[in-house]
Amino acid sequence: MRSLVFFSVVSASLALQLPFKVPFFQSTAPSEDDEPVRGTPKVAIIGAGAAGSSAAFWISKAQERFGVDVEVDVYEKTSHIGGRSLTVYPHDNDTFEPVELGASIFIKANKNLWRATQEFNLTLRDLSEEDNNLGIWDGEQLLLNLGNSWLGMLKIFWRYGILSPRRADSLVANMLKQYSTLYTTESPKWDNITDLAYSFGWMNLIESSGAEFFTSNGVSKQYVFELIEGASRVNYGQNIDSIHALEAACSISANGASQVEGGNWQIFEQFLNHSGANIYMNTKVSRITQKQSKSRPWVVHSDKGSTGYKAVIIAAPFHQTDIELPSALGSQIPEQPYVHLHVTLLTTTSPNINREYLALSPNENVPRMVLTTYEGVRQGRKAPEFNSISYHGKISEDEWVVKIFSEAPVEDKWLQSVFDNQVGWVHRAEFDAYPKLPPTSSFPPVRLDHGLFYVNAFEPFISTMETETLASRNVVDLLLNEEFGSSICGRRISGSTEDISPTDNNFVLGWDC
Ligand SMILES: Cc1cc2nc3c(=O)[nH]c(=O)nc-3n(C[C@H](O)[C@H](O)[C@H](O)COP(=O)(O)OP(=O)(O)OC[C@H]3O[C@@H](n4cnc5c(N)ncnc54)[C@H](O)[C@@H]3O)c2cc1C
Ligand SMILES: *[C@@H]1O[C@H](CO)[C@@H](O)[C@H](O)[C@H]1NC(C)=O
Ligand SMILES: *[C@@H]1O[C@H](CO)[C@@H](O)[C@H](O)[C@H]1NC(C)=O
Ligand SMILES: *[C@@H]1O[C@H](CO)[C@@H](O)[C@H](O)[C@H]1NC(C)=O
Ligand SMILES: *[C@@H]1O[C@H](CO)[C@@H](O)[C@H](O)[C@H]1NC(C)=O
Repeated sequence: MRSLVFFSVVSASLALQLPFKVPFFQSTAPSEDDEPVRGTPKVAIIGAGAAGSSAAFWISKAQERFGVDVEVDVYEKTSHIGGRSLTVYPHDNDTFEPVELGASIFIKANKNLWRATQEFNLTLRDLSEEDNNLGIWDGEQLLLNLGNSWLGMLKIFWRYGILSPRRADSLVANMLKQYSTLYTTESPKWDNITDLAYSFGWMNLIESSGAEFFTSNGVSKQYVFELIEGASRVNYGQNIDSIHALEAACSISANGASQVEGGNWQIFEQFLNHSGANIYMNTKVSRITQKQSKSRPWVVHSDKGSTGYKAVIIAAPFHQTDIELPSALGSQIPEQPYVHLHVTLLTTTSPNINREYLALSPNENVPRMVLTTYEGVRQGRKAPEFNSISYHGKISEDEWVVKIFSEAPVEDKWLQSVFDNQVGWVHRAEFDAYPKLPPTSSFPPVRLDHGLFYVNAFEPFISTMETETLASRNVVDLLLNEEFGSSICGRRISGSTEDISPTDNNFVLGWDC
């Protein structure tokens, strides 16, 4: 029996009427404790990135709506909120606009982040309006050089035909249509990601590589190995024949790409500020142990001491946390390799990439965004020395910010040659950026034990800021249901003033209930 529940918003009691036997999603009232009750039940969240901050926010929604009595502690080992979403100032000078170093864009279909920017009065910057001066580089030559006029679209059709772009778009649109049900009252809750994929009809998407999926659906090889691979390499640092098709499709869904002015991390700060959770910054969790206690069976050990909790949410890639778990629990989470990515931000007074580097003649357009394909290597030629180079805004009359993603560090000497000896400030960072995402049908467990949950199990399925907020919403619902007999939206408060109809286009599950 598949363990998915198509859950109705109207009343939690409906869940009991469903014909499924649901292993972990039962509406049981919290049991009486043997021990004397010592204050409010506590929940720990480990990590203050997109996943952990939104988890705290979702819990606070249930507190607000149903008066669920719970105190939340968030542990974050660094001194900043946002995890892989963070900004730096060009020249380390805060009179300039900060630039995203990690997660930089989300799209309109990402309804939680979109809604959050509205609710928190943050300003969105629409990047899809910016010029589309794109090139695709194979290590030795530019296979595509669009230029920045309306001719660009014609050049795409000229090179790839009309059918391939259209078919690719329609495959992505189908995926997004199914995806959008996650924001409706029809959204499933899941304790098994394979089951979620199955119920969405996405087995083919996760079990095929992007290359297999798109070519078998009539998209030409050339379009797949040039344009779609350019997107999978810039967004996930992986080639189109080694990444699963779901993530490949995500990497070409860029309609309405936007970011928050001043930094996306502000959304996560606001989630936490609105949640009322206690936040322990610079506090690394080293160990989670179990003890005989019904009210506080989980003990979280950090460099600030040990505290007992009713439930714990792990909101970071487990194998990168260095957290020691009882071995029967930790061993459920398979090793998960991540793409180790070098991000180099720099400023330059060179208005474009050196032409000779890109083998361009003097009168040719120099693209401002260079994506790469692995096609050169497949045909026995040289590999690109980077995954992407992109010119971002100007910071003064004649100085630009440029971002480079690469698998290896880029040396100063190389930078000087690519930017005509006009490099100013350079900032280098390294990330374990996203999971390696080969085709698969198995994912880590979402729930490790009674009261112990793992949000980042979702990342090998889709790894974005938004989907981490969806994964946390799901985990918080499982937790509230199991431990508190409640959920984010499952019980209506009497006299609720929110009455956006679930059929309204602006309805977002969790926000509007
Ligand atoms: C260069 C780059 C570009 C990207 N581009 C995009 C993009 O454009 N759009 C997009 O949506 N996504 C993008 N991503 C992916 C995106 O960043 C992630 O999917 C998302 O931010 C993950 O959020 P998270 O909260 O799950 O994990 P994280 O952001 O990694 O947060 C985990 C937090 O847990 C903390 N932590 C870890 N261990 C411990 C411990 N033991 N104790 C206490 N705290 C701990 C960490 O310090 C961290 O703050 C990009 C990522 C990178 C690196
Ligand atoms: C920061 O930049 C401004 C110009 O934008 C300049 O006037 C100022 O001196 C700089 N500050 C530092 C500390 O370099
Ligand atoms: C956002 O702005 C509106 C109108 O200016 C205001 O009513 C609201 O309280 C603000 N919300 C937040 C979270 O600051
Ligand atoms: C959030 O709370 C922190 C700590 O109280 C505070 O420093 C910060 O300014 C707040 N941020 C916002 C955007 O309200
Ligand atoms: C998820 O369900 C599938 C079968 O539907 C099963 O093979 C797999 O082991 C389950 N995964 C986890 C983590 O429980």
